[in-house]
Amino acid sequence: MPKLECKNVWKVYGSRPEAYSGLVRQGRVQPDDIRKLRESGAIIAAADVSFDVNVGEILVLMGLSGSGKSTVLRCISQLVQPSAGTIRLDGECLSSMSPSDLVEVRRHKMGMVFQNFGLLPHLTVVENVEFPLKVQRTALAVRRERALEMVALVGLAGKENAYPYELSGGQQQRVGIARSLASEPDLWLLDEPFSALDPLIRRQLQEEFLRLQRDLKKTIVFVTHDIMEALRVGDRIAIMKDGLIVQIGTPQDIVLNPVNEYVARFTAEVPRYRVQKVGCIMEGLSGDLNVSADLSTALSCDMAVEDAFEHFRDRDRVPVVDADGRLVGQLTASRIVNHLAKN
Ligand SMILES: Nc1ncnc2c1ncn2[C@@H]1O[C@H](COP(=O)(O)OP(=O)(O)OP(=O)(O)O)[C@@H](O)[C@H]1O
Ligand SMILES: [Mg+2]
Repeated sequence: MPKLECKNVWKVYGSRPEAYSGLVRQGRVQPDDIRKLRESGAIIAAADVSFDVNVGEILVLMGLSGSGKSTVLRCISQLVQPSAGTIRLDGECLSSMSPSDLVEVRRHKMGMVFQNFGLLPHLTVVENVEFPLKVQRTALAVRRERALEMVALVGLAGKENAYPYELSGGQQQRVGIARSLASEPDLWLLDEPFSALDPLIRRQLQEEFLRLQRDLKKTIVFVTHDIMEALRVGDRIAIMKDGLIVQIGTPQDIVLNPVNEYVARFTAEVPRYRVQKVGCIMEGLSGDLNVSADLSTALSCDMAVEDAFEHFRDRDRVPVVDADGRLVGQLTASRIVNHLAKN
């Protein structure tokens, strides 16, 4: 069972919800209907959005400003009520829960990081981080210990008693990340967490985020409008346009097999070797391939071509193995160079 399921989720804003709610609730709405709805003055922030996220997976929502990313995230966290559709967490439908159960789920199962940090200015770092636990009435000693642990986890040891205004943007964002982790959520929702940061700090936080995730194995929905960030952090990427998901797939799918011009334009500048796998460009087994090759130095056919570069420093031919460690081919330096020249 997926951890999170969004099924045919709609969010329509407008002055006369009755004008469109019937149409939306009937199920699949045609592009023509969306146009008619828009012409009638409705703002369709999310249109028939469906996806699943598995335990431990990072799904990225990506798209231009106004495409509906934050709306979908807010629907999941129930900060806004979807106009139609269902959202299930661990198989339980959030919209049919009692308000008190919903509060419990949000407090204990979901953690949210906001684009603008959302820190409380009059509280110190550690007080900000422990705030969600305070709201849950966790005893001071317990919540303080947990908060100090989270502060250290995000690399802010020594800054526990600083106030937000004494911190850089990157440090404030780390406080936001620590706070969202304090209540040990299973589902982690991040809305453009690194967008306000300069490129170097952003890259550093992305790497720390991925390192954290390797240990924590949360189920994550991560919003960004930066394609390189999406490719770096996403297991799968959903590309949104005008409230609709236009394509959902692995980074490799999105870059190599865009479904239309809109998706292709996003990825036009992305070097193909970032996502293409060794297995796609290797030479298959053939006569001159040494079957007794030393497989201890072999590349995995699942590895991105980019990550294979360093294996050619002192060799010009490397065996390739499949997921079970069986020899399936070889990659040569000249083949890589050839491939780079074409892409
Ligand atoms: N409360 C609201 N009332 C009316 N319209 C809204 C409301 N919230 C969002 N919208 C509209 O819904 C659309 C999607 O907004 P949303 O915030 O989800 O976009 P986004 O993809 O997160 O954009 P950004 O990258 O700029 O954060 C926009 O056209 C926005 O103006
Ligand atoms: Mg947004």
